Amino acid sequence: MQALILAGGEGTRLRPLTSTVPKPVVPLVDRPFIAFMLDWLRRHGVDDVVISCGFMASGVRNVLGDGSAFGIRLRYVEEPRPLGTGGAIKFAEPLLDERVLVLNGDVLTDIDLTAQLAQHERTGARVTLALIAVDDPSAYGLVRRDEDGGVREFLEKPSPDQIDTNLVNAGAYVLEREVLDAIPTERAVSVEREVFPTLVRNGLYGYEASGYWLDIGTPERYLQASHDILDGAVETSVPEAFDSRNVAIADSAEVQGRVVGPALVGPGVRIAAGALVSGRTVLGRGVEIGEGAHIDGAVVLDGAVVGPHTTVSHAILGPGAQLGAHCRVDGGVVLGEGVVLGAENHLTAGARLFPNVSLPDGAIKF
Ligand code: GDD
Ligand code: MG
Repeated sequence: MQALILAGGEGTRLRPLTSTVPKPVVPLVDRPFIAFMLDWLRRHGVDDVVISCGFMASGVRNVLGDGSAFGIRLRYVEEPRPLGTGGAIKFAEPLLDERVLVLNGDVLTDIDLTAQLAQHERTGARVTLALIAVDDPSAYGLVRRDEDGGVREFLEKPSPDQIDTNLVNAGAYVLEREVLDAIPTERAVSVEREVFPTLVRNGLYGYEASGYWLDIGTPERYLQASHDILDGAVETSVPEAFDSRNVAIADSAEVQGRVVGPALVGPGVRIAAGALVSGRTVLGRGVEIGEGAHIDGAVVLDGAVVGPHTTVSHAILGPGAQLGAHCRVDGGVVLGEGVVLGAENHLTAGARLFPNVSLPDGAIKF
């Protein structure tokens, strides 16, 4: 089975994590995000994947290579300019089989693609969308269905008065290649706004999926995804590395402080005496946690350094970020790659610092 992953968006909502790395390969827990998608696809019989890149394509290729590390054939197509979701599929057409699974490249899920493919076959659909229930459909594509699973209406980013169901497009659909005949090549096309609506009652079906599903496209949801993976709320191989206390500590890590699971401590990490790492935290390669520091529910990416007696809670520290002593960083804050925080700063309320920004001692207090 073949899959096409749409991964050409700029990931603006996930900045500054995506300021230096394209969204599909932003590190999540212990691997580039898209590796979770590749594992999920392989579990459902996908052996051939085309990744549609726009933004920083070589960054994606450099990390994922030819797919041999994932047991999947991986190829890349690079658009000359952003063509929109529909335009990107059309652009990849020369590489596509007659039937292809199309995936949005920012979704962490374990929904049953095998059952979705079976329904597609059974109904003779041209496109079968996986549908998932969400609390607030306004950021998604809302789907109204008939009893037989046929789609009655597709509304991308519905306004509040249009919301009368919580089922949305999960960003995973089976597509018959002939659908692409109707897509123009000379301009950007949104598959959600321009293609799906024309297929309503004309071959567009919905498969109601269940299981874990999350679009990781904002810092809050990225952090949520990290927590859910550690908790085992989504099916991944990560918990396989846990010991009896739900902690995975790399052999080369030096831990003098305390680590409370579930947590993941990468190679070469050093956790000083009196430090506490707790509550679904991930520490990437070579991270250093100073004496008496407390890290809780956070993601600390490769090479970041946390000074003594600093608290980091529900926050994301980019690669190589350096935090001085006695800082407090919490409330969904994201520090970009290489940010330097002097001592005694307090950042909260979703503040985002862009790569390589440097703040002197005591510069910010809330
Ligand atoms: N190659 C390419 N070119 N990829 C693109 C382009 C483009 O021009 N534009 C967007 N993409 C990719 C993004 O990288 C992402 O993986 C996927 O297409 C969807 O784009 P988003 O920008 O993340 O869309 P969204 O999250 O607002 O909405 C989409 O996903 C929802 C589910 O998460 C829609 O498909 C909704 O209908 C859906 O409910
Ligand atoms: Mg998205």
